[in-house]
Amino acid sequence: MSLKVNDLVTEFATRRGVVEALHGISFEVGENEVVGIVGESGSGKSTVVRSVIRLLVPPGRVASGTVEFAGRPLLELRESELRAIRGKDIGFIAQNPFSALNPVLRLEKQFANIAKAHGVKADDGARRRAVDLLAATGVSDPERVIRGYAHELSGGMAQRVVIAMALYLNPRLVIADEPTTALDLTVQRQVLDTLRRLTVESGRSMLIVTHDLGVVNAYCQRVLVMYKGSIVEQGRVAEVFTAPQHPYTASLLSSASPPIEPAEAEVVPSQPLEVATWPSSK
Ligand SMILES: Nc1ncnc2c1ncn2[C@@H]1O[C@H](COP(=O)(O)OP(=O)(O)OP(=O)(O)O)[C@@H](O)[C@H]1O
Ligand SMILES: [Mg+2]
Repeated sequence: MSLKVNDLVTEFATRRGVVEALHGISFEVGENEVVGIVGESGSGKSTVVRSVIRLLVPPGRVASGTVEFAGRPLLELRESELRAIRGKDIGFIAQNPFSALNPVLRLEKQFANIAKAHGVKADDGARRRAVDLLAATGVSDPERVIRGYAHELSGGMAQRVVIAMALYLNPRLVIADEPTTALDLTVQRQVLDTLRRLTVESGRSMLIVTHDLGVVNAYCQRVLVMYKGSIVEQGRVAEVFTAPQHPYTASLLSSASPPIEPAEAEVVPSQPLEVATWPSSK
């Protein structure tokens, strides 16, 4: 199931009038593909992903363009149709994990609500899968954590919980906005490896926003480079990183620390994860 974004224009109404934040964005995420979005702060990365899954809040709005997911026009669907897709077919990991967690519900209840909202029975098997996913993303003592509340979590733990929630229903596409920024460097890789195992290596695709070119180099097949609301360059990572066509990409690469050794990210087969799958899942 691929994602096709065509000529997306997003604007924000501000006191000084309407400001165009995205100036015609076009890209695709193919099946079984990991695509990275890079670019400096304020270049529009979050606005792209929020526009695509219609989580943009006022004063932002998509002014024009189309978004097609598995052949369906996401921007034209009714809110109820979209809700059925979000969570089930497209998992979203927000930049701020606490914004995605309900402060007054135990985490186990939040997992159960996700299941119920999509017609999955929140039985023992469903709970087992939530606990397994928490363990897979590196949450220690997941049985205790799942009985607790969001405010008891550190930023890093909250991010892992949100990742587990996004993957809970086995979505075909995961959209992740800086999914590991709250984690320290040593565990970033571990969480990214888990994300990759649970998505691409099981035939899923992923769109991942990051400011870390090393992450793109290691995990993505293709990259979109954003600058001031436009994609100034896109292509296969090995090509873009070896011979950048746009001066902004070149400057990003030259300031990368540690330096980038261009390499095509491969989908490496790894050990199967000990995660309970849905009885109904293929
Ligand atoms: N609520 C808002 N009101 C007005 N303009 C906004 C608003 N949110 C975003 N923008 C505009 O959209 C641009 C892109 O913001 P966005 O959050 O998408 O950037 P980003 O690339 O995700 O940055 P970061 O790396 O810091 O997360 C901003 O530079 C700003 O001009
Ligand atoms: Mg952002």
